[in-house]
Amino acid sequence: MKILNFGSLNIDFVYDVVDFVTKGQTITSSGLNQYPGGKGLNQSIAAGKAGASICHAGLIGKDGVSLRDLLDEAGVDTTDVKICDEERTGNAIVQRNHDGDNCIVLYSGANRALTKDFVDEVLQKFGKEDWLLVQNETNLLGYIVEQAHQRGMKVAMNPSPADELLDEVDLSLVDCFILNGGEAEAITGKSGTPEILLDAMCEKFPGAATILTSGSWGSGYAKGTQRVRQPAYRVPVVDTTAAGDTFTGYVLANMVVGKDIATSLERASKAAAIAVSRQGAAPSIPLADEVDNLETSTIISTEE
Ligand code: RIB
Repeated sequence: MKILNFGSLNIDFVYDVVDFVTKGQTITSSGLNQYPGGKGLNQSIAAGKAGASICHAGLIGKDGVSLRDLLDEAGVDTTDVKICDEERTGNAIVQRNHDGDNCIVLYSGANRALTKDFVDEVLQKFGKEDWLLVQNETNLLGYIVEQAHQRGMKVAMNPSPADELLDEVDLSLVDCFILNGGEAEAITGKSGTPEILLDAMCEKFPGAATILTSGSWGSGYAKGTQRVRQPAYRVPVVDTTAAGDTFTGYVLANMVVGKDIATSLERASKAAAIAVSRQGAAPSIPLADEVDNLETSTIISTEE
């Protein structure tokens, strides 16, 4: 049973700022770092480090070969990470403020140069035992989901960023949503507590599971009438970039290798807690050993 992640690969330029820049303002940053990133790449690395059999498919420019090397190092199969001659690698301008929060501007580059031929060529290697994982940073998302569903693959989606490009996707084909509160609001049109949003997702997508993350509330799983809750672990925040991706990769990997939902949520929460205590996107994602050996006395569950 494999996971195919058809996802983005970015180079992140991370600017340290006191406060995020606002309209008409010019601000000077106190630091600039470059990291590997992209929601797709981050989630593949997390799933690979969590122990899943994961293949990444996507496009980079000639300037992005180091991203493929990094995926290889994390144990991800990169046979279908191809170089696109016409485009540069996708990139992200990330502002990171003093609280470790971020805001991000994306340039899609090669991530939005996928062709139907390439999608077909990749998908024919996968079947009904396998999972497709997607985010919303590539083109042809609707086509990828449809074709994977037709092949009998199960579809997991992290609908991030939740923008108008999601409108081209038949979300009723998704088997498992992994998303945050803002994304659940955008998809359901409802607002309220995480519990209300989980109910709204179940109502709108009766056949699908939803795993929702929401800051200090933690995370929760819902499908039909089943509910599983995992409080967040609080750690000193250095950089929240890729915390959601770490959670997504870890939770799906654990579920796919047969862990129960509660264990999957717990491991994913710990992995995300470690990720926010480190700088950068992909470099902040911990190994499974680090997650399992995490001294829980050094972190506080928000339920305690
Ligand atoms: O989720 C974090 C990621 O979003 C960053 O690595 C950036 O590349 C954007 O895709």
